Order: sequence, then structure tokens, then C-alpha cells
Amino acid sequence: MNNKTINLIVAADENNAIGYKGGLLCYLPNDLRYFKRITDGHTVVMGRRTFESLPKGALPNRKNIVVTAADAEKFPGCTVVRSLDEALQQHDDGSEIFVIGGGQLYCTAFPAADVLYLTRVHHTFAEADTFFPEIDFSQWELVGRENHEADEKHKYAYTFLTYKRIK
Ligand SMILES: NC(=O)c1ccc[n+]([C@@H]2O[C@H](COP(=O)([O-])OP(=O)(O)OC[C@H]3O[C@@H](n4cnc5c(N)ncnc54)[C@H](OP(=O)(O)O)[C@@H]3O)[C@@H](O)[C@H]2O)c1
Repeated sequence: MNNKTINLIVAADENNAIGYKGGLLCYLPNDLRYFKRITDGHTVVMGRRTFESLPKGALPNRKNIVVTAADAEKFPGCTVVRSLDEALQQHDDGSEIFVIGGGQLYCTAFPAADVLYLTRVHHTFAEADTFFPEIDFSQWELVGRENHEADEKHKYAYTFLTYKRIK
């Protein structure tokens, strides 16, 4: 059994939508900076399609693990594993581990997650094809909250929320 702390980090709209046609739903530069700050120096685990969506490939200054059945050479700079369990076994360097998407991998990881970094984007996107699982907030304690209004660089208001699973 895994006894590591599993962190999930996600940006989701009011309906838990997270993606459309292989990409994100919106561009929020502050959220990208926040993602970098939270995950910097740690281990990130992602599904194959999320890797394919990264504009510059593997994320710098982080150990990148890709979960896929595909050949390892398609994922330069990454450790390739066949399952989330294998990713957890591969993770032995003392860094924190973050599952960074997408929808399919979040579904597998969410039941085992201990900490959830949720950027709630205060909008409902009409077009979305990928979703984060439904969250039963009675099982989660809110431990951090930071509100941000829309501005000239951010079309939508958003809130950085941090939850810990109630044990
Ligand atoms: N808003 C956000 O925070 C956020 C974050 C990340 C991604 N996204 C968006 O989410 C979308 C991608 O998500 P997605 O659900 O389509 O794909 P995904 O989870 O990124 O990747 C799916 C693929 O990864 C592998 N995989 C995933 N879970 C697995 C498991 N439990 N066991 C074994 N293999 C597994 C499989 O690869 P193989 O088919 O190669 O075997 C599967 O086809 C994109 O639109 C992306 O922009 C949004």
C-alpha cells in the first residue's frame, strides 16, 4: 500500500470542466505561475495526453513521470510508467508528488488523494470535453483560500483553494 502524501493540482470551472480538444479552457497567467511555484522542485505525474499538451515538453526543474502504455522514447525528459501505482513506487527521492492531470489520471488518483490544490475558475465554459471528478466537500477541509478578480490579463475571476482530506 502507498503511504505517501498524494497532491492533486487542477484548474476547474464551476462545473469541474478542465479541458477541451486536448488543451486548457482558458489562459490565466497567474495560475500558471502558481502551478509552477507549488510544483517547483517536486515530482509531477501526468497522463499521456497531458504530456502531449505541454508546449515545451517535460516541465523544467521537476521530475516528470508520464503514465502511458506507449513507448518511452516518445517522452523525452520523463520517466515512463504503466500505472499510477508504478509512479508512486518510482517516487523515492523525498520530493512531494503532484498528480497534474488530465481527466483520466485524476479519476484514478482522486480517491487516493490527500491534498487538493484547486483553482476554481469562476465561469462555466460552454465547450468542454474533460472534467475533474465530482468532489464531496464534506470529506475535505479548506485550509487555504486566495481570491482574485478578473483583470486585463485574466478574463475570469478565480480562487486558489487548498483542501486536505479529512481522515
Ligand atoms: N485544467 C487543468 O488543470 C488540466 C490539467 C491537466 C490536463 N488538462 C486537460 O485535460 C485534457 C487531457 O486529459 P485526458 O483525460 O484526455 O487525458 P490524460 O489523463 O492526460 O491522458 C490519458 C492517457 O494517459 C494514460 N493514462 C491516464 N490514466 C491512466 C491510468 N490510470 N492507468 C494507465 N494509463 C493511464 C493513457 O495513456 P495511453 O493511451 O498512452 O496508454 C491515457 O490514454 C486536456 O484537455 C488537458 O489540457 C487540464
